[in-house]
Amino acid sequence: MSKEITLTGITTTGTPHLGNYVGAIRPAIDASHNQNVLPFYFLADYHALIKCQEPERIQQSTLEIAATWLALGLDTANAVFYRQSDVPEITELTWVISCVTAKGLMNRAHAYKAAVAENQEAGEKDPDKGITMGLFSYPVLMAADILLFKAKKIPVGKDQIQHLEMARDIAARFNHIYGEHFVLPEAVVREETSVLQGLDGRKMSKSYNNTIPIFAPEKRLRKLIMKIKTNSLEPGEPKDPDTCTLFSIYQAFATPEEVEQLRQRYREGIAWGEMKQFLFEYLNAHFGEARERYEDLLRHPGEIERQLREGAAKAREVAVPFMREVRKAVGIAPLAERG
Ligand code: TRP
Repeated sequence: MSKEITLTGITTTGTPHLGNYVGAIRPAIDASHNQNVLPFYFLADYHALIKCQEPERIQQSTLEIAATWLALGLDTANAVFYRQSDVPEITELTWVISCVTAKGLMNRAHAYKAAVAENQEAGEKDPDKGITMGLFSYPVLMAADILLFKAKKIPVGKDQIQHLEMARDIAARFNHIYGEHFVLPEAVVREETSVLQGLDGRKMSKSYNNTIPIFAPEKRLRKLIMKIKTNSLEPGEPKDPDTCTLFSIYQAFATPEEVEQLRQRYREGIAWGEMKQFLFEYLNAHFGEARERYEDLLRHPGEIERQLREGAAKAREVAVPFMREVRKAVGIAPLAERG
C-alpha cells in the first residue's frame, strides 16, 4: 500500500505559542509517528516575505520553529521536514501554474479582498495601495507547495479553506489543458475544540498579542500565567471551570482524570492564585524536557540546518522528476530528433 501524503506549511514570522501547539503542532507531530501516512511539513519562508519585511525576524522565526518541531519529537525518519526555499521546484511550479490561474480567481481571495476593503474604508483613491504581487498571488504559491508533492490531505485552519479550493481549481484547470498530472487536494479542517484561549480569554493568537510561547523560560512562563484574566470570586467561593481560561488551558494538556480532579477543586473554591501556581507548575513540568532539547538545539543551529537540508533532499527526490514531467507536459523539454 502506498502511503497517503499529508502536507502542511508553517509561515516563519513568529515564535510558536501554546495555541499553535494544541491546534497544529501536536496533531502534526502525532501524525508523523503514523507509519500509514507520509507527512510533508515545511517552513514557508517565501510566504513569510508576504507579511514581513524584517530579515532578522524571518531568520529567527525559522530557527525557532524548526527547533520547536524537532524538540517536540517530530519523527523525521517518517516525515519530510524542510524549508520551502530549499526546494526551488516550488517557485518554478508557481510560475507554470500562474499561467493557468485566472486573475479573476485571485481577485476573490479573502486576504486580497480584505486589503482592498481596508483601502476603501480609509478613503484611498487607489484600492490597490500598498498591496504587493506577493499578497495577490499568495494562493498560487500555496497551490504549488501542495501540488508539487501530490498531497491529498491538507490539515489547515478554517481561514485556509478558500486557498485549498483555489488549489483544486488551479489543478483541475491544468489537468484539463495538459492531461492528468496533479492530484486534487482536500482541506482537513481543524476542529474548533482545538482552539486554545489566550491571556485575555480570546482565542490565543499572535494578532491579539495574548500568547504564551511554548518554550518561554520558566520565569517568563510564570509571569504570563499570572497575567491570565479571571473574575473577582474570593478563595473558598465555588467557581465555574467551564468559563475559566486557566481551566481551559489545563484541559488541553491534562488527562480526563486530572481534569475531573481539578473540577472538584473548583467546586471547593480553589483560590485564583493557587490555581495559577498549579497551572504554571503543570506546564513547566509538561514542557520541561522538550525545553531542554529546544535550548540545546538553539545553541547548535548547525544541527537544525543539517536536518532541514536532509529533509529538502528527500523532498527534491519527488520534486525534481515531477517538475521535469510538468515542464514536458507544457512543452518545455530538451530538443530531440523526432522519430
Ligand atoms: N498559508 C498557510 C497559513 O498561513 C501556510 C501555508 C503555506 C500552507 N503553504 C501551505 C499550509 C501549504 C498548508 C499547505 O497557515
